[in-house]
Amino acid sequence: MKHLVVATRNPGKIVEINALLTGLVEQISSAADFVDFPETVEDGVTFEENALKKAREASQFSGLPALADDSGLVVDALNGRPGVFSARYAGEGVGDTANNLRLLEELRNIPEDRRRGAFVCVLAFVTPEGVERLFSGSIAGRILSAARGEGGFGYDPLFLVDGFDRSMAELGLADKNRVSHRAQAFAKFREYLETIV
Ligand code: IMP
Repeated sequence: MKHLVVATRNPGKIVEINALLTGLVEQISSAADFVDFPETVEDGVTFEENALKKAREASQFSGLPALADDSGLVVDALNGRPGVFSARYAGEGVGDTANNLRLLEELRNIPEDRRRGAFVCVLAFVTPEGVERLFSGSIAGRILSAARGEGGFGYDPLFLVDGFDRSMAELGLADKNRVSHRAQAFAKFREYLETIV
């Protein structure tokens, strides 16, 4: 594919997505490369709705094929929260540190064996010609009681990945991009692109 717009301003996601699209797309633009790129109101109740809305607006605005990632952390003991509210769990624009503190606080009295959760990613691909496709991925793990590791972004330091004795923030970009929820969704997107070019 020649030119794709990635509808995100999240610097942590951009780093991962650029690596995940290597060799697949000649030119990648993101929201930051445009003046007045639309700020999509993420008012959907599912990752699918929000991802589609972001990709539709980005494609319409740019006139290019657009890819949007909506993702978050789903915690069993919190009935799926923070879910679609992951980026603003502790309030609009407060950032990762405050969100992580809120998560720790909500799980304060929950024992280790009931701190199960998963990262979920839904990718929406929309073209000006009207193509709309969704791809999803998830990775299971356990919410730690204290942060571990310096890498990644968001809730990574609090997420112990199943099958690894490391938090997502201790995996490093290369390993995270092999196993993560985002990596799994991108693997499906990659397969799809190979069938249409
Ligand atoms: P979105 O930009 O509306 O999709 O919100 C995504 C939010 O979910 C981020 O701000 C993080 O809080 C969380 N999240 C999504 N993916 C990851 C990840 O790979 N690691 C850690 N947190 C993530």
